[in-house]
Amino acid sequence: MNENETHKLIGKLSGAVVFLGVVVIGLVITILVLFAFQTQEEEKEEELLGCGVVYPDPHGRTHDFVNGERLFNQNCASCHFVNKDMTGPAIKGARERGWENSYENWIYDFIRKEDSLVQIEDAYTLKLREDWNWSDNSWSHNFPLTHSEIDDLMDYAY
Ligand code: HEC
Repeated sequence: MNENETHKLIGKLSGAVVFLGVVVIGLVITILVLFAFQTQEEEKEEELLGCGVVYPDPHGRTHDFVNGERLFNQNCASCHFVNKDMTGPAIKGARERGWENSYENWIYDFIRKEDSLVQIEDAYTLKLREDWNWSDNSWSHNFPLTHSEIDDLMDYAY
């Protein structure tokens, strides 16, 4: 090998080393960029799960419990507990009882205009009033609540 050939060989070798170096640096940068994007997405997901998201519930409850609790305390807590009887019966499970004993949307009509259920002589409503010695009482549930507020309320008291 003469000096000239040695020089050429060294030139080729260093070229290859530089090329490899560039490839490795390129790969590292690509991996870092991908990693950064991935953690950003994870953070976004965490943000979404953190608050403001309505979780699907195994019992189909999807409403605003905090609003439900507020409405309950404001309007109902003077006569009702959620889990035990007071002036009125325990609220827990009332939506399902109304559905089973009368009709599917009974709960909305009962809370918004019980007097009209009394008027049409809805058997379940009359029975409740009788069982609770309320038949002679002129007071009835006639709360100006929206369907969605009643959903919040009943989901809170589920
Ligand atoms: C003044 C007392 C009083 C207040 C306030 C009151 N209730 Fe009642 N509630 C009763 C009484 C008494 C009964 C049983 C007699 C009847 O059906 O009216 C009853 C019955 C019920 C029932 C039927 C329970 C069942 O087992 O099917 C539901 C549901 C109900 N109330 C929900 C509510 C909700 C929701 C509120 C608030 C928005 C509320 N009540 C406010 C006294 C009250």
